[in-house]
Amino acid sequence: MSHAAITGWGKCLPPAVLSNADLATFLDTSDEWILSRTGMRERRISHVPAIDMAAVASARALACAGLDSKDLDLIVYGSCSSDEQVPNSASGVQVLLGARNAGAMDINTACTSFLYGLSAASAMVRSGVVRNALVIGVELISPYMDWENRNVSVLFGDGAAAVILQSSESELGVLGEHLGCFADARQTLRVRGMGCSYANQGVQYGDTLWDFDGQEIFRRAVKGMAQATEKALARCGITTDQIDLMVPHQANLRIIESVAKYAGIPMSKVFLTVERYGNMSAATVPVALVEALEAGRVKPGATILMPGFGGGLTVCSHVVRWGDRVTPLGLSPAELAPNARTALEMVNDIRARRSAHGASERGLMAPRFAETRLAD
Ligand code: UT7
Repeated sequence: MSHAAITGWGKCLPPAVLSNADLATFLDTSDEWILSRTGMRERRISHVPAIDMAAVASARALACAGLDSKDLDLIVYGSCSSDEQVPNSASGVQVLLGARNAGAMDINTACTSFLYGLSAASAMVRSGVVRNALVIGVELISPYMDWENRNVSVLFGDGAAAVILQSSESELGVLGEHLGCFADARQTLRVRGMGCSYANQGVQYGDTLWDFDGQEIFRRAVKGMAQATEKALARCGITTDQIDLMVPHQANLRIIESVAKYAGIPMSKVFLTVERYGNMSAATVPVALVEALEAGRVKPGATILMPGFGGGLTVCSHVVRWGDRVTPLGLSPAELAPNARTALEMVNDIRARRSAHGASERGLMAPRFAETRLAD
């Protein structure tokens, strides 16, 4: 059987930085609270659509792999923030890349979208459905963030990264993974105002209120990632001491520390980005992976553990074997359009538009459809 080696990687972070001090200009919060409870100092705010970030990250990943966009057979766009619902976002990236021979699909499992996408694309490469695949993790959360809610708005940021998978006879890429979902807790992380359920309520897209039970998500995240890691390791017969590097989802430093402790992995083997980027949802793990490579933390032949969790509440953990090459074959000249505004100016614009819509005052009603109940 062939395998799906990761041969290219690239990231794209929008340049505008939103600091904890910026957030404290309009929220009852402080740098001390955010840093001590989450490990975050700053996050990025995008001045461009999500597909632009995704396409720049993808162009860099293609150059890194030395692959032409026309050689791509599949584009997987992992995200819960689509620029448009129809057409899908993967097709938008395809146009920007000129990848005219590729199939294109979106996957939304919230923060785990990149990792679920990695599973789907790896399975297709291994089974021979496709040979070369692009897997993207991208998120543009700022336009639909409920900025007045300090429980959530300090936690998230925008960004993108991508990897190239290529069919290989060597045992590389995903060695084993576990995918799961605590669906009984799906109401603990809900963005009200996005989706058909809110049609006919006069709700404008992005006019959102977030249901967010931080403590319950925290508990489930630690338990879920620890269990998924145990199962993923067992599936491929790898023991914890064989893990060279952990590149986890980065929603909170305390969550990462707890998962590492459960898994028996010292923090010296954990790669962190949470301080600089916050939680970029689906973009978090691939951005961290790219930065781990740039920092020389991924050695040839390394075994990497990538646990994640997100809305749903989806959980997963992936064990990945790296190849011999840890440096790019080439560099892409792709860049985002220039930006002239500060992150705080962009956020204040979004806040002004939201308050003009009156989302917080009006509230968002329950879905208008009758509820279907299935027998157990
Ligand atoms: O990818 C999935 C995304 N979800 C997550 O990652 C969420 C996981 N959960 C968490 O990371 C943590 O639960 C939070 C960071 C969200 C909250 O940390 P916590 O230690 O669980 O705080 P808490 O919810 O127990 O709140 C403690 C206090 C509360 O005040 P009182 O009731 O004790 O007076 C909050 O109102 O901190 C208050 N608080 C804040 N204070 C200043 C909540 N948010 C803030 C804030 N600034 N931004």
